[in-house]
Amino acid sequence: MKIAVASDHAGFEMKDFIAKTLSEKSYDVLDLGTSDCSSVDYPTFADKMAHCILEHQADLGILVCGTGIGISIRANRHKGIRAALLYSDEVAQMAKQHNNANVIVFGGRTMDKDDVLRRIDIFLNTQFEGGRHQKRIDLLDL
Ligand code: RB5
Repeated sequence: MKIAVASDHAGFEMKDFIAKTLSEKSYDVLDLGTSDCSSVDYPTFADKMAHCILEHQADLGILVCGTGIGISIRANRHKGIRAALLYSDEVAQMAKQHNNANVIVFGGRTMDKDDVLRRIDIFLNTQFEGGRHQKRIDLLDL
């Protein structure tokens, strides 16, 4: 499974931590930047991720900014992107089960690293239910 990661400066440390951890777990990780803590604009990295996912260069995207909010807002402006901010374990499960999110999002300044890793694990180990949820997902992109 190929997982793309991207962040702004406020999410850089968390993004780097996620990338290293997933690589150690043998996931194929594609790092779209940013590459250090210098100030950058989160919409740029949300756009890079959206293009990557929509062009099928990765199976899942992980985005990080300070709160996860700005980068989510921008990512979700791209038709076909379903970016979910995983602010709890329950939400991590539902984001896959009901929304089949193709991008998951975290707050580098607002979330704990262990919580983030556990939520990634929950998301990856949950199945999309399909059925009525697929119908609703189809309605998102009309
Ligand atoms: C950057 O300072 C910060 O505003 C950004 O990372 C994010 O939290 C925006 O939603």
